[in-house]
Amino acid sequence: MLKGQFEAAEIVDNNERIAAALLEQGLITLDDFLPPALVAQLATEAIDLRRGEGLRPAGIGRGPSQHLNEGIRGDQIRWLEPDTATPAQRHYLEILEALRQAINRHLFLGLFGFEGHLALYPPGAYYRKHLDQFQGTQHRLVTVILYLNPDWRDEDGGQLRIYPDPTDEGCHQDLLPVAGRLVCFLSGDFPHEVLPARRERLSITGWFRQRD
Ligand code: OGA
Ligand code: MN
Repeated sequence: MLKGQFEAAEIVDNNERIAAALLEQGLITLDDFLPPALVAQLATEAIDLRRGEGLRPAGIGRGPSQHLNEGIRGDQIRWLEPDTATPAQRHYLEILEALRQAINRHLFLGLFGFEGHLALYPPGAYYRKHLDQFQGTQHRLVTVILYLNPDWRDEDGGQLRIYPDPTDEGCHQDLLPVAGRLVCFLSGDFPHEVLPARRERLSITGWFRQRD
């Protein structure tokens, strides 16, 4: 009981920090965002899905123009759906719901929902530089990525490379996809890419959206 209350207090704190950072810098990295046992459970479930062939190659674009392009991205995904989510996934979705509300209180973005997927990059996979807003649309406003990989080291590659200044290609920040790390940024403001991973790389990537 006490532990549950403590965790809830921590989450509120984190959410306030994330919202304040989005307002000031548009970008934040936060380690140990979730309890390690929850991160480990989410990772185990992702691996089980891969073994059960429950993942599908990710597409590029949206709607009728969506297509597969392994030259751009090589990850395999499974969308999270509240109806079929596991208890661990539902727990994470509930935490994100509290984060969505905190961001709305601070930024008045009118975020109204979340869409997200598990992603698995097999060794050698990458995702070329892109923006998370599709051309001509602004439905995705805030990107939230949670990494699930224990003991990830520099030599494992798979860094998330973020370009904080779109006019300066040479300026970038590299983040390792270490278990429990959350990266959150304004989707339209930060081009980014995933460098080739040398190990299987797991994450849950998602977006807070505006109404269609
Ligand atoms: C994405 C993406 C980054 C990452 O799925 O759009 O950019 O670090 N993912 O997994
Ligand atoms: Mn992206």
